Amino acid sequence: MSNVRPESMARINTKELADAFIAEQISEIKAQVGDKKVLLALSGGVDSSVVAALLIKAVGKQLTCVHVNHGLLRKGEPEQVIEVFRNQMDANLVYVDAVDRFLDKLAGIAEPENKRKIIGAEFIRVFEEEARKLDGIEFLAQGTIYPDILESGPVKAHHNVGGLPDDLQFELVEPLKFLFKDEVRVVGKALGLPDNMVYRQPFPGPGLGVRCLGAITRDRLEAVRESDAILREEFAKNGLEGKVWQYFTVVPDFKSVGIKNNARTFAYPVIIRAVNTVDAMTATVENVPFELLEHITQRITSEVENVNRVLFDLTPKPSATIEWE
Ligand code: XMP
Repeated sequence: MSNVRPESMARINTKELADAFIAEQISEIKAQVGDKKVLLALSGGVDSSVVAALLIKAVGKQLTCVHVNHGLLRKGEPEQVIEVFRNQMDANLVYVDAVDRFLDKLAGIAEPENKRKIIGAEFIRVFEEEARKLDGIEFLAQGTIYPDILESGPVKAHHNVGGLPDDLQFELVEPLKFLFKDEVRVVGKALGLPDNMVYRQPFPGPGLGVRCLGAITRDRLEAVRESDAILREEFAKNGLEGKVWQYFTVVPDFKSVGIKNNARTFAYPVIIRAVNTVDAMTATVENVPFELLEHITQRITSEVENVNRVLFDLTPKPSATIEWE
């Protein structure tokens, strides 16, 4: 099968075009899969969520979604995956609580690329273990989108999945492989997925793991998760959600002195990052209103444990990267 987007394919930018795409993909998926079973790693990100919703429409319970909670997701994400896919869409959803397993593997590992490798390898191991528990799976669905194919260089066939062992090779189902991100969002909206899933900002695979700097500890990981939730809530309330390309908090692995309730504290700082970009190769810093920054600072220092200071990162890319690790 070709991996080049057909020239005749219209840009999907209306509900009508999305509905037509959905109808066409449903019949193609049915023809490809027949009465066989399909497996999907469902992170809750835009691409895997749209693939899940499409496959649920096409083959219902023949699809099994596996959601691995590695402990590095944002606040509320695993709960939302369960609510949307298991409760609302009645999907077969296997929820894997692998939090302790990931954090144990990551304990004491400070080097960023090492952290990424451990998270990636452990993810494949957990997914593989779940796949082995399921009988008769022949297909693996993936949220590959067109930029993934373009970025992987010369046109190549995707028949098997790298990273899984030989006895676990599946035929791929990749219904979004000719879509650009904005088209995936239009399709997701037409499939009835919630806005905060469809329009969510980019989130790195290693998740909060690269925002809890150095060796990950549970107290700092919770500080990242809670401060990120406050930042997202305040950006949403103040009309910045959907306007700013990526915004998040970072917690470094050092403490500073502060004061709370007339007592000296020795706690972590939280760094706020908010950037805009077209292609993530360069980025500029969002000019966040100072009063809003003050309000967010007040909330983070009073609501997040082990934090006594908030900083705003003013650095564009270059010289900084978007993430801190
Ligand atoms: P940097 O930090 O390189 O980030 O300026 C550019 C964009 O890529 C995202 N990013 C990642 N995404 N795995 C991912 O899936 C990663 O390891 C990773 N590191 C960075 C980052 O969030 C930004 O959108």
